[in-house]
Amino acid sequence: MLAVRRAFIGLAAGFFSLLTCAVAPGGGSAWAADKAVAARELEILQPRVPQNRLAKAKALKNPLTINAEAVARGGSIYKARGTCVVCHGARGRGDGDMGAMFDPPPRDFKHAAWQSARTDGEIFWAIKYGTEEGMPRFEGKLSDEEMWGLVAYLRSLGK
Ligand code: HEC
Repeated sequence: MLAVRRAFIGLAAGFFSLLTCAVAPGGGSAWAADKAVAARELEILQPRVPQNRLAKAKALKNPLTINAEAVARGGSIYKARGTCVVCHGARGRGDGDMGAMFDPPPRDFKHAAWQSARTDGEIFWAIKYGTEEGMPRFEGKLSDEEMWGLVAYLRSLGK
């Protein structure tokens, strides 16, 4: 699964470097930097839910009524009981105190392409079961209702 994803990223990064090559011949280290940025961008957008669970996860719907109150409740879980703030940071930019220990870094919830690439169900799934790339699982630590509140809060950060 991971190997397939890495292979895809490698291919895509190769394609990007060809593109930059054609556009700006001559700038060695700038290419490498561009290539790294392009690869990182693509990596972030790869689904985190394993392929055999993806369709089901994508289809999950937030059962909460989304209003200012639900978002505020999600926000307080984010900052306190959920400990999300420690890694994802106070503004959700992935720059919390422990964030620097991770590669890839904790998700930046202001990332517009990421926000549109994910369904609510995939976000819920990542919170509940974690990801291979370092997101811890919160199953058993938070209730499903609390996790759906977090989904509402993370969506509000993307607006
Ligand atoms: C110990 C650090 C840490 C904590 C605490 C943490 N996260 Fe994460 N989180 C990460 C890392 C690292 C990633 C990036 C992993 C990846 O790319 O899959 C991540 C990724 C995510 C993603 C992106 C998944 C995707 O599909 O792209 C979501 C959503 C998320 N975290 C939500 C939360 C929420 C909500 C909380 C609090 C309940 C939380 N995280 C707590 C480290 C953390």
